[in-house]
Amino acid sequence: MDRIVLLPGDGIGPEVLAEARRVLEAVSGAYGLALEFTEELIGGASIDAHGTPLRDEVIELCRESRAVLLGAVGGPKWDDMAVDVRPEKGLLAIRKALGLFANLRPAAVIPALAEASTLRPEVVDGIDLLVVRELTGGIYFGEPRGRDEVGGKRRGFNTMIYDEDEVARISRVAFEQARLRRHHVTHVHKANVLDVSQLWMDVVEEVAKDYSDVTLAHQLVDSCAMLLVRDPGRFDVLVTGNLFGDILSDQAAEITGSLGMLPSASLATGGFGLYEPVHGSAPDIAGQDKANPLAAILSVAMLLETSLACPEGAAAVRSAVSDVLAAGHRTGDLILAGESRAAVGCRAMGDHVLAALETP
Ligand code: IPM
Ligand code: MG
Repeated sequence: MDRIVLLPGDGIGPEVLAEARRVLEAVSGAYGLALEFTEELIGGASIDAHGTPLRDEVIELCRESRAVLLGAVGGPKWDDMAVDVRPEKGLLAIRKALGLFANLRPAAVIPALAEASTLRPEVVDGIDLLVVRELTGGIYFGEPRGRDEVGGKRRGFNTMIYDEDEVARISRVAFEQARLRRHHVTHVHKANVLDVSQLWMDVVEEVAKDYSDVTLAHQLVDSCAMLLVRDPGRFDVLVTGNLFGDILSDQAAEITGSLGMLPSASLATGGFGLYEPVHGSAPDIAGQDKANPLAAILSVAMLLETSLACPEGAAAVRSAVSDVLAAGHRTGDLILAGESRAAVGCRAMGDHVLAALETP
């Protein structure tokens, strides 16, 4: 029996995760995977119930599980709290505690939704990239960090630090992913200014020697941001540190025009992973059955593929989602201005996907 921990979190998290769970139950049943589900609190929901965004018991439970499926965390209700007890802290803590160093954020255009992008159609057309973001190091976790006062002046500081092992292991993930795709890796850096980026350059080059079938390019982060809006089709796999990856993955997601569609995986060594939609908690529409569950459902596909070694199940989920879109079903976020379609709700969208699932 494999345990799956569900962490619905805040805002629309619970609604989209309920649909994702139904899909995972259907697929695991069809492919004979024995799964056991446990639901726990994270983020604001956990702050309200227990005074902390993530309890140690929940981390322990996740450690004993095969994979974690997360909804979203955060909301205006908790925005004024100190950094250490904010909902986001729960997310950072779980990444660190579970060793989820490799964050995979695929951004591909879905043809039926391409018009939603702010970019011209011919530019959007080619987008099919994967951001591989280092997730447990860098400036997010580096020491020293903090705020103090020197000579009567307030200061704030963080440290961007990586050691060679951290860089090598995320680089390997990127090269391995490139082998499953178009065999190209772009390392994103700021080596014209940052020493830490110069270390990345050296280590990525060393790792590249083991992957002679994959081409490697280096791109400065500022020009990468520029190229992402000018010619995103040139990118296959992007590998970078925690902060640059945070920024570029939002940009990459948005240019596809389908933010509500994008899944992600955060992986540790050995196939354990946490899966979550890229979109946030959307507090403005929470509890109204308006949310788009497809990013959460596509996160289930990544979970099936990577943590449950069930690529057939993953393919079934992906093709069910494509079929549902091709049939014209849309949640509100996917309806373009001027389009006369009736929006389907979150639950109904889940029903459509379940009905479209072709499993043994
Ligand atoms: C993300 C988010 C988080 C991050 C926040 C909520 C802490 O922006 O997953 O990209 O910065 O990593
Ligand atoms: Mg982010």
